[in-house]
Amino acid sequence: MFTQIEITTVCNAKCFYCPNDTLEHKHMAWECFERIMQSEKSPTMLLIQGTGEPLLHPFFLEMVAHAKSKGHRISIITNGSMTLSSTHMVLLDQIGFSLDTLDEALAKRSGRTSPAQTLKHLLACHSLTPKKIKLYAVNYGQDLEPLKTFAKEQNIPLVIQRIQPKKSYQAHYTTEPLPYTTYQCPYVENEKMRYYFVDGTKAACCFMIDSTKVLHSKVIQHALSQKSVPSCCTQCGELTGIKRLYM
Ligand SMILES: C[S@@+](CC[C@H](N)C(=O)[O-])C[C@H]1O[C@@H](n2cnc3c(N)ncnc32)[C@H](O)[C@@H]1O
Ligand code: SF4
Ligand code: SF4
Repeated sequence: MFTQIEITTVCNAKCFYCPNDTLEHKHMAWECFERIMQSEKSPTMLLIQGTGEPLLHPFFLEMVAHAKSKGHRISIITNGSMTLSSTHMVLLDQIGFSLDTLDEALAKRSGRTSPAQTLKHLLACHSLTPKKIKLYAVNYGQDLEPLKTFAKEQNIPLVIQRIQPKKSYQAHYTTEPLPYTTYQCPYVENEKMRYYFVDGTKAACCFMIDSTKVLHSKVIQHALSQKSVPSCCTQCGELTGIKRLYM
């Protein structure tokens, strides 16, 4: 079980596959974060980021320090466009850098920030805290071999994320609709995670994107038990056998 908090939907990139541009761009209020901290009493692995760039939150370090003081372990995924200080490196337990390609022109076309900049920031962190660093790539059909070679040479774990087949992600691309292979979802059945949207709305997974469309996990579970897929779950990889992550 882990908890994820979308502290901001503000971003400085426009990755073509990300639903960020379909969202209202705002930072989570401190009071909202504080309320979540009060309700999340048991220490957990806390992923502080949602559909936005976490390092852009003006109180990012204060939020991390506050969560650490409650005993949580903290991880983030960042687009790597900003410098991380020694304070970031001490407070954060895991730092994921998103990098889909080393090719500047391709990255630019895809809406990503500069790979050279991400590499600079990643390598600076890696030289100080190698065990905390991970790489995250989205596989949208590009050549991943140079990235795999780089990760292997540097001994950095590389997580490849399948491009999301879920309907709520597909504002700027389409994937073939796949038949549902199961009507059981571990996120609603086993409480795999808790996700808090930037407005404080709580959800059973991080894939719903629009907080106004969130259904309670019991409602989702009931619909699925009737072999009916609610709109917040349409084409989800959990139900079509397309699991999102692989190494
Ligand atoms: C939404 S981003 C937020 C953190 C930060 N802005 C970043 O890009 O790393 C978190 C992760 O989700 C991935 N992601 C975004 N849209 C995706 C999609 N359609 N399919 C798969 N992964 C996606 C990003 O590449 C990134 O690794
Ligand atoms: S994937 Fe990250 S960097 Fe790219 S648009 Fe989405 S939130 Fe921003
Ligand atoms: S969106 Fe996917 S992971 Fe989330 S509750 Fe629905 S089926 Fe499960």
